[in-house]
Amino acid sequence: MRVVILDSPDSVSRFAADQVCCLLNKRRDKRLASVLGLATGGTPIGLYKELIARFQRNEISFQNVDTFNLDEYVGVAPDSPLSYHYYMLDNLFKHINIDLSRTHIPKTDGVDLNESATVFENAINRAGGIDLQILGIGSDAHVGFNEIGSSLGSRTRVKSLTKRTRQDNARYFTSIDQVPTLALTMGIGTILESRSILLLATGAGKAEAIRRSIEGPITASVPASAMQLHPNVTVAIDRDAASELANAEYYLTSELNRTLVSRSS
Ligand code: PGA
Repeated sequence: MRVVILDSPDSVSRFAADQVCCLLNKRRDKRLASVLGLATGGTPIGLYKELIARFQRNEISFQNVDTFNLDEYVGVAPDSPLSYHYYMLDNLFKHINIDLSRTHIPKTDGVDLNESATVFENAINRAGGIDLQILGIGSDAHVGFNEIGSSLGSRTRVKSLTKRTRQDNARYFTSIDQVPTLALTMGIGTILESRSILLLATGAGKAEAIRRSIEGPITASVPASAMQLHPNVTVAIDRDAASELANAEYYLTSELNRTLVSRSS
């Protein structure tokens, strides 16, 4: 795993935007489509702002891009400001030149949820798989809505949200009782099939989850620890999220060496 410790949440957003731009521009030069896996929540907002700014400066185009979002609540209509459909439109899609028919968010409204999960998985396969999956992390180390105990081989399916996740997300709702109890989420097995993964975390509230995910054993009790199984994962975090890592010095040195190696080659 590449662990990149940065000074601030803004630096994490800029680093993440660099990774996305690099992928999109490289593939555009080869006339290939890019397939992005996207996340919602507070963490990627800065990344999306940065991508919009770069799009406005003509540094990036989303013309030949497919996107797949990790998850959607069950019981929240797509046009509700609380849905992840709305979040993506509001925070990214309506500001860039993406073809909305190429954006995919698990459908949960008025559909058979199991069928919807299969449709979603099939769409990822038809697009040729995900080139780069962006992930946030829950304070309990969930990724997507793969809560504690999720099978490391799980596919897109319905999951019950834990009390902790519902408490964490209650800030977007009027009260915790309004927070849905179910979501349709990409599985950990699905996420691990992405060709590369970029996990983002900022703030001290994520420090324990980050430590357990990166330096602890791989276990379904810490869903993000499954990322240790993937050969191409970058974890980009700010100093606060890194504050409980035992090997922070080593990660900082490794990054420094990486810069030196790339400069000398
Ligand atoms: P956050 O959520 O970015 O709002 O902290 C992350 C997550 O729950 O995956």
